[in-house]
Amino acid sequence: MTTHLLISLWASSLTQVQKTCIMSSKSNVFMTGVTGYVGGSVLSRLLQHPDGPSFSITVLVRSEEKANKLKDFGVNPVVGSIKDVALLEELSSKADILISLADSDDLAMGQAMLRGLKRRYETNGSVPILIQTSGTGVLADGSAGDYSGDVIYNDDDPDQIETLANTQQHRYLDLALVQGDKEGYVRVYLILPSNIYGLATGKLVDAGIQNPRSIQIPSIINASLSRGRGGMVGAGKNIWNDVHIDDVADLYVVLYDSIKSNPKATGHGREGFYIAENGEHTLYQIGKAIAEDLVARGKATNPEPSTFTDEEINLYFGGSTFWGTNSRGRSNRSRSIGWKPRYTTQDMLAGIKPEIDALISVGGKFSFNAPAPVASG
Ligand SMILES: *[C@@H]1O[C@H](CO)[C@@H](O)[C@H](O)[C@H]1NC(C)=O
Ligand SMILES: *[C@@H]1O[C@H](CO)[C@@H](O)[C@H](O)[C@H]1NC(C)=O
Ligand SMILES: *[C@@H]1O[C@H](CO)[C@@H](O)[C@H](O)[C@H]1NC(C)=O
Repeated sequence: MTTHLLISLWASSLTQVQKTCIMSSKSNVFMTGVTGYVGGSVLSRLLQHPDGPSFSITVLVRSEEKANKLKDFGVNPVVGSIKDVALLEELSSKADILISLADSDDLAMGQAMLRGLKRRYETNGSVPILIQTSGTGVLADGSAGDYSGDVIYNDDDPDQIETLANTQQHRYLDLALVQGDKEGYVRVYLILPSNIYGLATGKLVDAGIQNPRSIQIPSIINASLSRGRGGMVGAGKNIWNDVHIDDVADLYVVLYDSIKSNPKATGHGREGFYIAENGEHTLYQIGKAIAEDLVARGKATNPEPSTFTDEEINLYFGGSTFWGTNSRGRSNRSRSIGWKPRYTTQDMLAGIKPEIDALISVGGKFSFNAPAPVASG
């Protein structure tokens, strides 16, 4: 009886202590790019996270209308752009955790975030966290669909990652952030999605806040519909990794949880590269799946993809043969912190039909609408 009473007293006082802790230690989370394909998916998950009640989430968005809608989700929107570096620095200087999802290449953006986070450190004493969205475009080689690359980058091997030239896509910014980490005032983690596929779903999509679409596969579908045949760059021999949007978003949460529960075992800085992939494909496989689907719908007659001409590369891809590069990596470090992607390359290929349905349903009238041009690689 007495023991029982003591236990319940102890339990109720513990609950009280926990409540007090939660209420007094709000984490200031600052996010950019939340109206984008990846950013919206990450924000949706943070809103449902068990730590959600202890987050105070500030988001930077360009659209006043979307800012107003976001208020209904319990976040604090600030209307503005990452190009406004003074504003970006100011918001960063209040963040315990900055999740950067708007851009993977803008050095001025990166420097502003670092200045703000440094101020945070100098005035607060605790080391803030920066999770930057990079991409496996950094691994791309010079192929234009003409060969399969054989170099495979391991995200758990910083020496190998440091063999990448600083002229590689994203690399200049990534290196600047890693340098900030080295100076000790911030802990930097970089997530590198590969070719992301799948339509994003959730409340932010339903509310018209979030862009649901990736870039690579939709742009190839759009071009193929327009030319009446599946297409590819060169012979489509090049290889890229792939990953589903839901698995990418999960990686941000797994990383956050790992930083909180086991910071020492969660690599950062030069050891903070986290690739998101769960399989790989040739560009030919994508072209073939599109070509066959268009024939089945009566929108094409040839079930084999053909090479995009130079004119088509100009018309549909801004003159870039980037989709013809090889970009191969392995998510060893991401898996080591508990990331378990669910979708495979087979799911990506099976998902091409619904992606074509979705593009046809909008009558070809869509834009990538990407405040976050990081949706692919
Ligand atoms: C540092 O930041 C934490 C978390 O936001 C806050 O609880 C704490 O009061 C801050 N400390 C100082 C000295 O500002
Ligand atoms: C990690 O990646 C490399 C590819 O670079 C692979 O050969 C290796 O087996 C992987 N290691 C683990 C522990 O999974
Ligand atoms: C889709 O293709 C059309 C040409 O048919 C092009 O004008 C348009 O810019 C493309 N849209 C996107 C988002 O790529």
